[in-house]
Amino acid sequence: MSSSGDEVAELKKSGYALGALLGEGSYAKVKSAYSSKINARVAVKIINKKKAPKDFREKFLPRELDIIQVVDHPNVVKLYEIIEFNGKVFIMMEYAGHGDLLEYIKLRGALQEDRAQVMFTQIVNAMTYLHERKIVHRDMKCENLLLDCMNNIKISDFGFARCFEPSDVSKTFCGSAAYAAPEVLQGIPYHLPSHDVWSMGIILYIMVCASMPYDDSNIKKMVSQQLEKRIGFSKGKKLSVNVKDLIYKLLEVNVKKRPNVFAIKDHPFILSAQTDNSECDKNQQAINGSDRQEG
Ligand code: ADE
Repeated sequence: MSSSGDEVAELKKSGYALGALLGEGSYAKVKSAYSSKINARVAVKIINKKKAPKDFREKFLPRELDIIQVVDHPNVVKLYEIIEFNGKVFIMMEYAGHGDLLEYIKLRGALQEDRAQVMFTQIVNAMTYLHERKIVHRDMKCENLLLDCMNNIKISDFGFARCFEPSDVSKTFCGSAAYAAPEVLQGIPYHLPSHDVWSMGIILYIMVCASMPYDDSNIKKMVSQQLEKRIGFSKGKKLSVNVKDLIYKLLEVNVKKRPNVFAIKDHPFILSAQTDNSECDKNQQAINGSDRQEG
């Protein structure tokens, strides 16, 4: 899916010059672009509706577009504009300059606990904001946690997100098996926000251990491991009681006992984090500043 001359011209009229490819899926890709409106680099998700299946075009895409237009939180990738042209949807959004959390951990290894506390608290804050507004993400994974140039978390990709009522359950399998809760993997109608909470448990484990808590190469075996609550921590790594306790609580098999995001906020691992979310907005100005110099 290369950009046609027409598209380049249309985007230019709206003040965007397309740049390098950042990522690619089967009917969507993400490119960097320069916006002359805000004098900064942006990221553009380009969705080719002609290539996309019906359920994506009619269900998931409209939900994604509705949700990203109302969400406004310092730890969620900001939407600038949506342009539709030539059977394609161009989602212009905040550029996160430091890649994703998986790349970060692959490069640097497990995070120090104080760093994990800061980053995980930002995730909890954004998730609280979403769940308060009755929005679930349903594809929480390290690849969807982008980092700005100050390494603040920016949650991205609302392709599986939807709105919910507290009594709603879903049977739709969403996201990646490695981050999916046992009830989701077993095809049991699941409580929507509890699915995000389980995924957050997997993310916190990866943050502090730089490995996966369960082996996802065999899903049946993985579900058995999950149900037995066999969560191993490598002996060589000293982890605090607080972080282990929070991981155990998030990876609770019994949905009724699994905490919601509001309860997570009161966990000592989160309460003792040294964070100041107002930094995120200042950091965004810094990103825009450094982009301007790069041109
Ligand atoms: N890759 C996907 N989305 C991105 C974004 N918003 N910023 C930077 N890289 C990305």
